[in-house]
Amino acid sequence: MTIDSAPFRSWLTALERRHLADLRLSEVTRALRALSSAYVERRDTGLRGALDSAGKRAAFALYYAPLHFLVTDLIVRALAAGVPAPASILDIGCGTGAAGAAWALAAGGVPVTGIDRHPWAAAEARWTYRELGLDGRARQGDIARLPPLPARSAVIAAFVLNELSAETRGRVEERLLEAAGRGARILIIEPIALRPVPWWRAADERFRSLGGRADEWRFPVSLPASLQLLDRAAGLRHAELTARSLYSPGVPARINRAASGACVRRRCRRRWRPA
Ligand SMILES: C[S@@+](CC[C@H](N)C(=O)[O-])C[C@H]1O[C@@H](n2cnc3c(N)ncnc32)[C@H](O)[C@@H]1O
Repeated sequence: MTIDSAPFRSWLTALERRHLADLRLSEVTRALRALSSAYVERRDTGLRGALDSAGKRAAFALYYAPLHFLVTDLIVRALAAGVPAPASILDIGCGTGAAGAAWALAAGGVPVTGIDRHPWAAAEARWTYRELGLDGRARQGDIARLPPLPARSAVIAAFVLNELSAETRGRVEERLLEAAGRGARILIIEPIALRPVPWWRAADERFRSLGGRADEWRFPVSLPASLQLLDRAAGLRHAELTARSLYSPGVPARINRAASGACVRRRCRRRWRPA
């Protein structure tokens, strides 16, 4: 399982070395509490404001990024989204690169490109790809101005659409739908709570009309000790990793039934429509 895999564990160790070199753990946990409440209370202010201190950046990199890596890995495997491997992966709003890296690794190590408007995030994504042994590049950029997406690529938007204005999200969604219609694999991941994503049901309809599917996920998990520590500091107890996803396979994908045990099954069956 990925959570016990050598690359994941050594990435976690390298993250701690990197982000705890100049900060005490107590500073990071304090920043993590501030960051967590910023996500809950002020989603519309975006991450740019939320990453305005070294402590918050370290908290994001050490806590949220590994959780996003793990949940993306589980979703990609459950959807069999890495099989056959896409030619490459584009991670829009890549943050520190975790979600795109997880998909790239699950697909056998395909090249990955990250785009993020925050210069710190783009630099961290480059570091993440190197640490995980991936052929990866990342650049600073605004996903509101995405170029047309190549039909053979896979695109992931993890925990980012909820940070965009309605107008920008509409434009990004249009690009993603257009690419899905031309055969690109598209994966959108957002928190399982509907409050931050009031637009979800409408987007779900649009993706399903192109042969996509919507899922809600609850994966039982036993986190590594370092993440459990931060979990408690954030006032959380992750006995499971949760998320919702929209997936358009480009061409109809086989569902990995063995891996999808954690999916809310009734919903999967009801919502799966072959193209
Ligand atoms: C909550 S983080 C998620 C990061 C990453 N996808 C993950 O799963 O860990 C959202 C990211 O989206 C980026 N972002 C927000 N609006 C953006 C935009 N218009 N263009 C590019 N990146 C954006 C933020 O800078 C931040 O790094």
